[in-house]
Amino acid sequence: MPQDVVTMDKIVALCKRRGFIFPSSEIYGGLGSTYDYGHYGVLLKTNVKNAWWQAMLSREDIVALDSAILQHPRVWEASGHVGGFSDPMVDCRTCKGRFRADHVADLQCPQKPSKCPGEGPDCDLTEARAFNLMFQTHVGPVQDTASVAYLRPETAQGIFINFKNVLQFSRKKPPFGIAQVGKSFRNEITPGNFIFRTREFEQMEMEFFVPPAEAEQWYQHWIEERRTWYTDLGIRPDHLEIRAHAADELSHYSSGTSDVEYLFPIGWSELEGIANRGNFDLTQHAEFSGEKLEYFDQASGERYVPHVIEPAAGADRATLAFLVDSYDEEEVDGETRTVLRLHPRLAPVKVAILPLVRKEGQPELAREIHDLLRFAMQTEYDEGGSIGKRYRRQDEIGTPWCVTVDHQSIEDRTVTVRDRDSLTQERIAIDDLPALFGGRLAAPWTTPKLAA
Ligand code: GAP
Repeated sequence: MPQDVVTMDKIVALCKRRGFIFPSSEIYGGLGSTYDYGHYGVLLKTNVKNAWWQAMLSREDIVALDSAILQHPRVWEASGHVGGFSDPMVDCRTCKGRFRADHVADLQCPQKPSKCPGEGPDCDLTEARAFNLMFQTHVGPVQDTASVAYLRPETAQGIFINFKNVLQFSRKKPPFGIAQVGKSFRNEITPGNFIFRTREFEQMEMEFFVPPAEAEQWYQHWIEERRTWYTDLGIRPDHLEIRAHAADELSHYSSGTSDVEYLFPIGWSELEGIANRGNFDLTQHAEFSGEKLEYFDQASGERYVPHVIEPAAGADRATLAFLVDSYDEEEVDGETRTVLRLHPRLAPVKVAILPLVRKEGQPELAREIHDLLRFAMQTEYDEGGSIGKRYRRQDEIGTPWCVTVDHQSIEDRTVTVRDRDSLTQERIAIDDLPALFGGRLAAPWTTPKLAA
């Protein structure tokens, strides 16, 4: 495997420099591990989420849902989050630091010289205590125990509590799935590594309800589907692996979980989990709510509680993986070029339109081309600075094609199309551009980094 030039520091710097993602509340000194997405970051993450939605909704057996972030507190009792959604935590009485007890060996104490918490001569750690990760708030003006509510720590429960509604209105029967994308919140003790682990993040989760006897088959199906989703979108297959959880790692609800792991600069880490949740969730919510949550097949007279296969992905974590996997540097004419070799479907901007000079009718023609393309795909018009500088900027945001308008364009209505990865330039008639780019965006794509 060729050595990757990418580091987390380079990704963080590029995201800041080009306005993808930056620390939140920066003018107030920031708020630990919260990030804001700028223009290109929004476009990139939206493309990731749209690719996920498309993979889900192009099937006939999945429907969409958007449930509320605030839900009845009993939801979280039934799901096990009130009682069990916690990490073991230790505090240091000296430095006042708070650390995850099971991560201590990988963490650094803020005291100098920095060592693992507990290792320094002045460290004074408490016993480990369970720390619930849910953010608590109050609904309404009175702050008492009756008004307690939680920000959802996962989107999944919003799906389970709507099983009956969706079954009724969607005219689906198992096997079928309900998909949802939305914000989740966890008061992580040790967030970090940029947008890998934050306290506010977006999830893309799908609960697939199946007849119990088909659960294992669908579990295997979804592991393979989800692996292919990442590689079809350009992730190098040798940077992706499926890791089955050992029995002592499984969550309380799971009879089998496999993680899709990606080789981040911090090492192999979870990108997505695919879990066989059995009938745990529907059974719990039926018991706590008193509603029957089961499927009755009128044809066969069969009645059962479906089992659930859940592919649960993070939109921010996937965005980070696509950034990391596409990051590249190469020498061109004695200079280092930084480029994001993103799949064209994920690239924030598909086509940049650049007049070579700001005169001789070139800006006007470039604007005309911009108008020809911009309602079909994300485009950008840029006339500022040298052409080399403008190309470098587009390379850094991952724009697959640059259209350059020059003096010949005025004479024969042709332009040059520069390819981000090969750096080849072809001469194309302006009228052919919509079909050219439309075709390229629809075509399968593999990352040129594989050939490197
Ligand atoms: N419903 C199951 C569930 O929520 P999870 O493994 O806790 O499972 C699913 O979360 C995915 O959500 C993870 O694989 C990860 O991509 C993302 N995720 C979880 N916690 C996160 C955090 N603190 N920051 C960013 N992404 C997170």
